[in-house]
Amino acid sequence: MVMNMNELQNRIDINRLPLHVGIIMDGNGRWATRRGLPRPLGHREGMLRVVDIVRCASDLGIKHLTLYAFSTENWKRPKEEVEGLMSLLLVYISKRLEEIYKNNVKINVFGNMNDFSDNVQNALTRAMERTQENDGMVLNLALNYGGQQEIVRACKKIVEQGISADEISSKVFKDNLYSQGQPDLDLIMRPSGEQRLSNFMLFQAAYSEFYFTDVLWPDFTEDEFYKAIIEYQGRSRRFGGV
Ligand code: IPE
Ligand code: IPE
Ligand code: MG
Repeated sequence: MVMNMNELQNRIDINRLPLHVGIIMDGNGRWATRRGLPRPLGHREGMLRVVDIVRCASDLGIKHLTLYAFSTENWKRPKEEVEGLMSLLLVYISKRLEEIYKNNVKINVFGNMNDFSDNVQNALTRAMERTQENDGMVLNLALNYGGQQEIVRACKKIVEQGISADEISSKVFKDNLYSQGQPDLDLIMRPSGEQRLSNFMLFQAAYSEFYFTDVLWPDFTEDEFYKAIIEYQGRSRRFGGV
């Protein structure tokens, strides 16, 4: 009856999926270097995994997926590399928009878009507008995103609204984060062997489960995604209880 189900996918309990998955898409540069290729080719291959994993997560029934694609610190990289990443982003957003739309995925951006070129800003705005009525998976693209910056921004927004100290609660705070209205992260995956957050979703990671793997992002296939979900489903989440 069910076709195309592989063995790993079969082991996933679809009734206990993480509501919100975050992925720190790391290792593109090393993937290329290990093959004697220039780093941009690693980013190009990494973009293909974005296409695969977005489709895979949405097909599986994940409701919220946040992809860390460009951090506030990534501007430190050589100009050519940053420009290459920007053009890949443009290609992804424009070439894949209809496919994303048809998959009922809604695109959101976490991060300050003002620092991007007009081209990139327009493409992102178009993507958000085109998909805003979709009610399948929410795909948050963390672009020019930093967790500390997001927290500082929330503080400023709260002050600007004239909210008093007494009125500030976790709920009010969360309503002023980019992720407003979305659940905290249940699961954070980080390929490439690094075991750190690198400024990703600091507030929303309070009770996240972490999944680290040495696999590099360009090698992160659907099966790697399934493995992470299976491991997550084997964890005991206590949230401070017993
Ligand atoms: C992740 O791959 C992509 C971005 C940070 C934009 P890297 O470019 O960080 O790859 P490594 O860590 O150098 O291998
Ligand atoms: C984190 O990866 C940012 C993204 C994946 C977009 P980095 O490669 O920038 O992180 P560090 O420098 O290894 O901590
Ligand atoms: Mg890296």
